[in-house]
Amino acid sequence: MDGGDQENMNDKNYKIAVIPGDGTGPEVVKEGLKVLEATAANFGFKYETVNYDFGGERYLKTGEVLPETAVKELSTFDAIFLGAIGHPDVKPGILEKGILLALRFALEQYINLRPVKLYDSRFCPIKDKTPEDIDFVVVRENTEGLYKGMGEFQNKGTKDEIATQISYNTRKGVERCIRYAFDFTRRRNKKKQLTLCGKTNVLTYAFDLWERTFYEVAKEYPDVKTDYAHVDATCMWMVKNPEWFDVIVTDNMFGDIITDLGAMVQGGMGIAAGGNVNPEGVSMFEPIGGSAPKYTDKNVINPLAAICSVSMLLEEIGESKAANSIENSVITVAREKLKTLGAGRMGYSTTEVGDLVVKGL
Ligand code: IPM
Ligand code: MN
Repeated sequence: MDGGDQENMNDKNYKIAVIPGDGTGPEVVKEGLKVLEATAANFGFKYETVNYDFGGERYLKTGEVLPETAVKELSTFDAIFLGAIGHPDVKPGILEKGILLALRFALEQYINLRPVKLYDSRFCPIKDKTPEDIDFVVVRENTEGLYKGMGEFQNKGTKDEIATQISYNTRKGVERCIRYAFDFTRRRNKKKQLTLCGKTNVLTYAFDLWERTFYEVAKEYPDVKTDYAHVDATCMWMVKNPEWFDVIVTDNMFGDIITDLGAMVQGGMGIAAGGNVNPEGVSMFEPIGGSAPKYTDKNVINPLAAICSVSMLLEEIGESKAANSIENSVITVAREKLKTLGAGRMGYSTTEVGDLVVKGL
């Protein structure tokens, strides 16, 4: 940093919890931290990290998914940076529910924020779409809906078995999510258009509540245009006319599904980042691609999604300029250097991509 540049000095010392997790998680987290370190030096803020070994390995060794003290400890940080959760030797659901979902719920990270932004036309599987066409954000409700875990088996294992899974939606939970989405759309200040994605023609309880709440809250945001699309149609428009979207708000399950589609439209899991946000508390940022066990320790996975998560983390804790500098470097590296965004096909290794982003800051 330029010694005379007092403007950039900032006496903040952030506390960041790091959960590298499983599979390729640790590799991409390492690159994210490399970029964080360089950015902190450039912008003159300080931070400390504390590592937590939650994940499949720890579970296999100790039988514990999340220690009792974890939530209390994590809630003392400014933010959490997570790599990936999911281990091939652990039955699906145990780690996902026991760590990822448990933290989202316990830390009341009621928003899952997932930007869908195309950095270069080459990365888009849809013909003729450019970065101008694909630039929207999904605001996914993150603590209710089908993820609440309500339901039961009846007559389990018999030929009369019935399994129910209930979508749980509270007025307060829906409203705080919708309100966040309106605020976000206003702050983002692009098309200023918020689309509710639901299924009002079939899910006539859950999305009735969502729809009523949406239009009631909308009255407080006359500057934000409102729109509605059923979830199936949303999937269609995301491929056919992604340029129609600015911000989409939806429930937990639909948000999960449409953001994987979003990730593909923006170029794949190698670039897709997300934030589990508690606007009043501690938020957690992660690449959304998962642990990708088959690429583990090969130095081939794309770290850009993890690096973009660091950018989102910095934005959330108030370091917008630092966040932008990371995003700009990622865009340049993706556009000018990488052959593709896929693991093993980038033309560079994981660590080299991290170095390129640092150089481009
Ligand atoms: C995601 C993931 C998780 C989810 C899984 C791993 C539980 O798919 O973050 O989108 O369904 O929310
Ligand atoms: Mn998902």
